[in-house]
Amino acid sequence: MAIARIRGANLYYEVAGNGDPVVLIHGFPLSGEMWSDAVAELADRYRCVVPDVRGLGRSDGEDLATMRQYADDIASLLDHLNEPRPVVLVGLSMGGYIAFEFYRRYTRRVRALGLIDTHPRPDAPEKRRERLVSAENTLRQGSIIMADNMLPILFGKQAPEALRKKWHGIMNTSRPAGIAAALRAMADREDSIPTLSTIRVPTLIVVGEEDVITPPDVAKFMHEHIQGSELHIIPRVGHMAPVEAPEAFTRLLRAFVDGLPPQAR
Ligand code: MLT
Repeated sequence: MAIARIRGANLYYEVAGNGDPVVLIHGFPLSGEMWSDAVAELADRYRCVVPDVRGLGRSDGEDLATMRQYADDIASLLDHLNEPRPVVLVGLSMGGYIAFEFYRRYTRRVRALGLIDTHPRPDAPEKRRERLVSAENTLRQGSIIMADNMLPILFGKQAPEALRKKWHGIMNTSRPAGIAAALRAMADREDSIPTLSTIRVPTLIVVGEEDVITPPDVAKFMHEHIQGSELHIIPRVGHMAPVEAPEAFTRLLRAFVDGLPPQAR
């Protein structure tokens, strides 16, 4: 674990392994801990970089949170780590929204994309309003509001109680101001549908069969619009594929990164 001063924030991150870089971006309102099984598997051959995005998990800096800022933070963190090579960029849900933004802003720094339990659409007006109200409620009543709201929709039907409890606890430890900032950043995010047809790097799409936040239909939509992408639907799993089915998820990610064309040096 380490903390870097990045663009006015104390950004918590972990780096494990050596080799071609893989950056893993967590969802809302989670932390990099969701990638621990994937990192354990990849670190023998890859340099895994796992930040907690500003304002969430163990990072601060929520006052400046926007999708653009989150993406710029990743670029600055890679600079801080002296990592100029194009990365495999993997994002779950909000992490996927950040990955789209990063791809638009730093196309040449992306070697491949992993779009996990995510989707490209902007918020509908009703959803946007709901997010802004949730942001206010979280600031007034604390992180528990969002932890309670998210828990019933985060996992598939068969997820063990212990897993639900663990992630409820993690969501509840993110600071209210960071959660509110992320809600506003998501409410203001750009439409990424036009980005899909511009993606020219190998792309892995994975979704849980029972994901109700970003369901398989939207994963199929991305697959149809991203040239040469591959799609995998993991059975009996919800929105948290990497923690609900760590073995199945990690096998897919590992096969994808192992199969990429060699990095130009
Ligand atoms: C996430 O898992 O990152 C969020 O649920 C995404 C969202 O609310 O749009």
